[in-house]
Amino acid sequence: MKLGSIILFFAVCSFTAYYIYEPIPEDIDERWKLMLTDCFFRSLSHLADLSEFLGLMDYMGVMYLITLIENVTPESDKHVEVTVETFDGVEVLLYQPKQQGGDAELRRAVIYLHGGGWCLGSSRMGPYDLLVRRMVTELDAVVVSVEYRLAPPHHFPVPYEDVYRVVKHFLQEGVLAQYSVDPGRIAVSGDSAGGNLAAAVSQQLQKEPGQQIKLKAQALIYPVLQALDLNTPSYQQNRDMPILPRTLMVRFWSQYFTSNQAFFRAMMTNTHNSPESSSLLKFVNWSIFLPEKYHGKYNYSAPVVVQGAREDVGMDGLSRSLSDPRASPLLVPDTDLHSLPKAYIITCEYDVLRDDGLMYATRLQAAGVEVTLEHYEAGFHGGIMFTVWPTDFLIAHRMTDNYIKWLEENL
Ligand SMILES: *[C@@H]1O[C@H](CO)[C@@H](O)[C@H](O)[C@H]1NC(C)=O
Ligand SMILES: *[C@@H]1O[C@H](CO)[C@@H](O)[C@H](O)[C@H]1NC(C)=O
Repeated sequence: MKLGSIILFFAVCSFTAYYIYEPIPEDIDERWKLMLTDCFFRSLSHLADLSEFLGLMDYMGVMYLITLIENVTPESDKHVEVTVETFDGVEVLLYQPKQQGGDAELRRAVIYLHGGGWCLGSSRMGPYDLLVRRMVTELDAVVVSVEYRLAPPHHFPVPYEDVYRVVKHFLQEGVLAQYSVDPGRIAVSGDSAGGNLAAAVSQQLQKEPGQQIKLKAQALIYPVLQALDLNTPSYQQNRDMPILPRTLMVRFWSQYFTSNQAFFRAMMTNTHNSPESSSLLKFVNWSIFLPEKYHGKYNYSAPVVVQGAREDVGMDGLSRSLSDPRASPLLVPDTDLHSLPKAYIITCEYDVLRDDGLMYATRLQAAGVEVTLEHYEAGFHGGIMFTVWPTDFLIAHRMTDNYIKWLEENL
């Protein structure tokens, strides 16, 4: 039944694909599969728009179905013990290697933050469950997968604060001892919006007075890192690219901050900056931080700054959020970067967020942080999630292998 409906769905999609054909770059592998996968996301997005228009359910409510479809009940197996815990009031899935005959050795640990634009996703989604299990078995690591609260019911800073509370709670001697974790071998990691949260907590933690236990590494998978300039070359080049078209990313950003549609429209035209945020545009200036080869045919022009009161978009609290490095980790001066833990950053050529990751890599390197940048020339956003039939892609396996290898060697 489930298989039948999936096949039927793909058949309908392949038919529809002729009509909504978006050219997918030649060098992407498995193009047809990607086109069909994208067709699913596009159809759902149209349905969500329609549903919101008719007042049935709001856009994100419909999109959340993807999460629900992919959710599994994480269960312990032969190698991994999975439990649901609450860390300082926040739910987490805790994955631990099963003991092998009284080994007293301390383990490494990864705090993992799922993606989904702060509005979608769950640590319970099948692809995350699989990814995390591989980390546990191949790295002999304890993994804390955080079920932070989501926007739009919970706007910024709630998702961030949930994650921060978990990290603070976990990085206590007593807690680490309870799970046999080595305090010197802990990483924070996440994909997309999860990469945003991982970068943000890494920065904030180093400012925490009296924080004894530090992170050893941060592994950021095609992270979102800034909300000030939504017209970087990658935003322009990949405006209609599968999985994460620009409109959807802008929607995620605006919903992270507010449900005000006027703000979404301002972000769409890149005219959402206020005089307050404009002083920070220098930190996201791609003409400086983006290696020349990624400039492409695009010329730099700074986002338009609208002067005066922006009551139309309720700018008051928003301009504070826009300028907040806990939302946009790129917005900090170099002095806040140099003591950060070493970083692994994945970027994909066909991703609106490519330049966020590349600019952060440049800035971290310039500040003296050890950075491993892995750029996938034929990669697309969300790639690492596509490990499960029928939307399984070779690139997902390649990304996962490389990611785990880096953790193996660096954590
Ligand atoms: C960005 O950098 C260019 C130089 O490459 C400079 O002309 C421009 O003023 C900068 N803009 C901002 C907003 O920092
Ligand atoms: C960028 O600037 C160059 C030189 O000024 C100009 O020839 C080119 O048309 C500009 N490109 C775009 C996309 O505006």
